[in-house]
Amino acid sequence: MTGRRGALIILEGVDRAGKTTQCTKLVQALRARGRAAEMMRFPDRTTKIGQMISLYLEKKINLEDHTVHLLFSANRWELAPLIKKKLEQGVSLVVDRYAFSGVAFTSAKPGFGLEWCKNPDVGLPKPDLVLFLQLSPAEAARRGKFGDERYERTDFQKTVLQRFEQLMKDPSVNWQVIDAARSIDELHQEILRHSEAAIEQAANQPVAELWN
Ligand code: ADP
Ligand code: TYD
Repeated sequence: MTGRRGALIILEGVDRAGKTTQCTKLVQALRARGRAAEMMRFPDRTTKIGQMISLYLEKKINLEDHTVHLLFSANRWELAPLIKKKLEQGVSLVVDRYAFSGVAFTSAKPGFGLEWCKNPDVGLPKPDLVLFLQLSPAEAARRGKFGDERYERTDFQKTVLQRFEQLMKDPSVNWQVIDAARSIDELHQEILRHSEAAIEQAANQPVAELWN
């Protein structure tokens, strides 16, 4: 590899934790500092697979639970070549949700173990940093009501949070837990600091494989 590669930075967290707000601000700040940075999000609803996922989330179609899990994973795999290419071109990617949401949401359904859920995502480009925006369900509720999409229910989201907590015990992933109950700006400063460190660290290392 010639030159410095970009870093793969993921934001995860419960609904309304501020992921989208912080992804946008982070990309702006990195660019203002002269770094190449772009935002991505999963699910990416613009692809054929993403359109099916979107219909499912909007409750316009029903899909069997294993099937939809594999579609979410396939949606990441179809973008994996682009992710690798961008990173190798020196672009840092700031991504709103990734495989961790995939595992946390499906394993919150009855009959789904963490290991089964992780399997389809094994080998994806490994994030250099995963920022987990931690917010209590009560604080999240103060930020507005749930929408009408599938999974937007308090009881389900509580189980999702427990699954994220299990995933965060894995030391092979660079997790940073961020207290998301603070102001947008305070959060942003901490996220920027962690991201700058991850970008420096990743620069001269090859892209690794997730959970491998
Ligand atoms: P997510 O992508 O995690 O669902 P959003 O970034 O869309 O979260 O934010 C959800 C709502 O909370 C939005 O109305 C946003 O303006 C608001 N919000 C985001 N961050 C904060 C914060 N730190 N404090 C208070 N409100 C916030
Ligand atoms: P998203 O489009 O990010 O919506 P929001 O703005 O509500 O965060 O995510 C859509 C939903 O899909 C969200 O409830 C999380 C869920 N999800 C999965 O179930 N599996 C996955 O692999 C991903 C990425 C998201």
